[in-house]
Formats: sequence, structure tokens, C-alpha cells
Amino acid sequence: MLTKMVDTSDEWIVQRTGIRERRIAVNQTTAELAITAAKHALADTGITAQEIDIIIACTATPDSYTPSIACRVQAELQAQRAVAFDLSAACSGFVYATDVVDSYFRAGKAKTALVVCAETLSRIVDYTDRTVCCLFGDGAGAAVYQWSETKDGILQTFMGADGSRGDALLATALPVEDPLEQSRNTEVDRFLHMNGKEVFRFAARTVPEAIDCVLKQAGVTIDEIDWIVPHQANLRIIDVICRRYGLAPEQVYVNLERYGNTSSASIPLCLDEMRRNGLLLAGQLIIFVGFGGGLTYGAVLIRI
Ligand code: COA
Repeated sequence: MLTKMVDTSDEWIVQRTGIRERRIAVNQTTAELAITAAKHALADTGITAQEIDIIIACTATPDSYTPSIACRVQAELQAQRAVAFDLSAACSGFVYATDVVDSYFRAGKAKTALVVCAETLSRIVDYTDRTVCCLFGDGAGAAVYQWSETKDGILQTFMGADGSRGDALLATALPVEDPLEQSRNTEVDRFLHMNGKEVFRFAARTVPEAIDCVLKQAGVTIDEIDWIVPHQANLRIIDVICRRYGLAPEQVYVNLERYGNTSSASIPLCLDEMRRNGLLLAGQLIIFVGFGGGLTYGAVLIRI
């Protein structure tokens, strides 16, 4: 399909990115994807909506400026006790949200949290721009975190940002204009613009930095890690992680060949597949690591 829309080839895309397929939401809102993922997560855990203290929705593609996706989810679930807000950290959203949940737990402000990541990136992808359109897909994933007295769970978090490089992944929203001017320029460029090389270099530098940081803070070595679940953007970036730490491909979960880059949803989509396939076992040490728009990055070390 893409080869009919832009000057590209399946061979180029697979070689340079590892991506073979992506899912596109047709006539579906981001909130609808988020609600479906949230309902699945609650059903899988057996936790009721009334137990949820906080809902964080991560998205770079909200349906509206207000209400937030998180409030839409809260309403649909009837999770009346939950505070609800969106978090804007693009592809690092799941990692950032996990850090916020950890802070709420440590402060005693919440015991049960729902993190839902939902993206309809196809709405901001320019399907005439070959440097962008082959990379991204739509999707949603959710996770429920629950406070426990044990020392397991979220062990360490690290987040970083470099706003000075923000234009490397740029999607603007409202046009800047004089609101009192009658002849308003209502033309809005809604498409995502990317400097792929700069983002690649940023990821290759910051992903190992984030992993090193959580390992060091936790006093854990890479040999003790059962899984690394990276943001799924490009297989070549994942290869950088494997080479840097001498990891076998089996230690790093990859599914981007089927979904492309689903931004904040990519890590929870991996976790859902891993759980369904029996790959997640009690006691395992897992690192989530993300990077993306902002530019942002971060890692989380958990014991499940
Ligand atoms: N099909 C065919 N050719 C393409 C193409 C496509 N889909 N996209 C780009 N090209 C062309 C470029 O126009 C360029 O042509 P030119 O040399 O005539 O100018 C050539 O391929 C090389 O482009 P380049 O940008 O150097 O390729 P690359 O090896 O850096 O790969 C990316 C491009 C986008 C795949 C890569 O930079 C990348 O993955 N970056 C990270 C992006 C990312 O992860 N973004 C999301 C972050 S959350």
C-alpha cells in the first residue's frame, strides 16, 4: 500500500527500520482505543474501576484539548474515585507515567493506578512524506499498578528531557495569530515533521544512559535483567542496545515488525503480548526504556 503512495519499497523500509506492518484506526477516536485497552487491563487483573485512585492517559494524539483522554476513560469506567489527567511525553509516555505512579505510591497518595497509552498517529502522519509514513502505526495498551508492602514492583526510575532538540519531532497544534484580526489564517499544518537522523542519534545516546542509570541506582548488573522492553521505533536502535550490553536477541522484546512505532503505546503493547505468551514470570527483573518527542527519554526497572 505505502509503495503506491510514496516513492519507497518494502525492502528499504524493512532494512532501515525492521517494520513490516502497521495498524491504522479508521473512524475510531483515541479515547475509544484507550477505553478498550483500559477495560482489557482491568478484566485481566480482576481489579475494579472503583479501586482506581489515579488514571494517567499518555497520548500525543488527543481527540480534544479538553476533556482529556483520561477523563473520558474515567467516565466510561465509572471510576468515580480516580483523579484523571493526560501526560504529554510522546513516545516516553509510559515510562514517564510509571514514574509519576511511583511518586504517588511513595507519597501515600494512591494505591491503585491505571496507565493507559493510546495513539492515533495516522491522524498526524503525512502519507505523502516517505520519511515519516512508513514508521508509525496506531494502537493502545494499558497497565494497572497496585501498591504493595513488598520490595517488588517499581524499583527505580529515571527520566530525562532535552527540549533544545524538540523541533526534531514536531507536530504543531493551534496556529499563532492575532485573535482580533478578522482575516485569520486558519491553515493548520497538522502533520508530524521529523529529523530522523537527529532522533536516531539522540536515542542511541540516551537509551544506554537511561538503562545505565537505573541499573546503577538499583545496584543491579545487566546480567541480572530478564527482559529489556524498549520503545519500538526502529530495529537498528534496538540493535544498538543489544550490542552495547552484549544481549542476546531473546532478552529484548521486539514486535515492531507488526505494529510500527505506536509511540507511548508500544511498551504496554509488548507487555500485553509477553503476558499472553507466558513470557512474564514472577520474580523477573525487567527494564522499560523509552525515548521520543520532546525530546524525552527514560527507563524504569521493575520486579514483577
Ligand atoms: N523509502 C525510500 N527512501 C527513503 C525513505 C523511504 N521510506 N525515507 C527516506 N528515504 C531516503 C531519504 O530521502 C534519503 O535519500 P537521499 O539520500 O536521496 O536524500 C535516503 O533514504 C537516506 O535517508 P536517511 O534519513 O539518511 O536514512 P536513515 O538510514 O537515517 O533512516 C530513518 C531514516 C527515519 C528510518 C531513521 O533515521 C530513523 O529511524 N530515525 C529515528 C526515527 C524515530 O525513531 N522516530 C520516532 C522517535 S519516537
